[in-house]
Amino acid sequence: MPASTNYRATASAPSNIAIVKYWGKQGVQEPVNPSISFTLSKALTHTTIDYRPGPEALTIEFLFEGWPKDSFLPKLNALTRRLVQHLPYLEKGHLRIESSNTFPHSSGIASSASSMASIAKVLVEIQQQLSATKDSEINHEQISELARLGSGSACRSTLPGWVLWGETEALASSSNRFGVSINEVIHPTFKDLQDTILVIRKGAKSVSSTTGHQLMENHPYREGRIDQANRNIKKLLNSLKEGNFNTFAEVCEEEALSLHGLMMSSSPGYTLMAPESLRAIRRIQKFREHHHVPLTYTLDAGPNIHLIYPKAQRKILEPFIREHLQPLCDNQEVINDELSID
Ligand code: PMV
Repeated sequence: MPASTNYRATASAPSNIAIVKYWGKQGVQEPVNPSISFTLSKALTHTTIDYRPGPEALTIEFLFEGWPKDSFLPKLNALTRRLVQHLPYLEKGHLRIESSNTFPHSSGIASSASSMASIAKVLVEIQQQLSATKDSEINHEQISELARLGSGSACRSTLPGWVLWGETEALASSSNRFGVSINEVIHPTFKDLQDTILVIRKGAKSVSSTTGHQLMENHPYREGRIDQANRNIKKLLNSLKEGNFNTFAEVCEEEALSLHGLMMSSSPGYTLMAPESLRAIRRIQKFREHHHVPLTYTLDAGPNIHLIYPKAQRKILEPFIREHLQPLCDNQEVINDELSID
């Protein structure tokens, strides 16, 4: 190949929301416990990469929504260093990476998952162009593994629908290296779940997930947490197979509150919930007690609440969300997304 040839590829990837949370790492970006998430359909990152081969060590330029964003370069440098053994072209030359999101920044949607998953897809596509490999020679497991090396949860964003990542005796094909689809065992109740995100607070988090994962290394409840996640994986898988919404909701809420409990009991401890997050949780519980609707919630590592419910409940829930939850949101903002299975 002449050194002057440039290579260009584009790909998109969605974000995902974890029901059983990945919290704590081991080795190179492997999880200390298995997790299960569902992939969203509207919250996407689009990425285009131009690669110019050259003799010098790799340099990277990153533009986010049209503007240079150098604060993301350390993450990209770490990613490309990890990927060199899989994609040798990343040793030299120049990468111009341009990304944009279909969702607002700092809205409680995990942008690292969609962003790293889309970047991994494009980098693999460029490797194919360089070596003229056929599409079929790159398998899903490899893309998921490369995405994981950018951001753990990103390995679940390379597949649609329900995805399990991390070794568990509950699923023989599970792996710490990549996400696997569990769509074939899912009851119809859980195939059209809605995720209405209550944007309680916008803006960057005061403590990053990277720090949160690190704090799990010497956490006093580390072993207990690992046991809890493993138990919840089994319980969640059973509820997803049987279509049991009550058990699903139990796991979902236990995981959300446990994640934030682990943050509070870290050393140093910290809080990411806001007063409105707790108010929203109480209103959701009360509404459910009175109306007996299948409705639950989860939180990521931030103050925003993800309301989770089957599509058939949307009409009943709309007035409740509008009148009782939206006023708790920053600028009344809510984002409607849903599970995508294809
Ligand atoms: O993938 P990371 O390093 O951004 O960590 C994500 C951690 C949680 O979002 C809190 C849980 C999860 O499993 O997605």
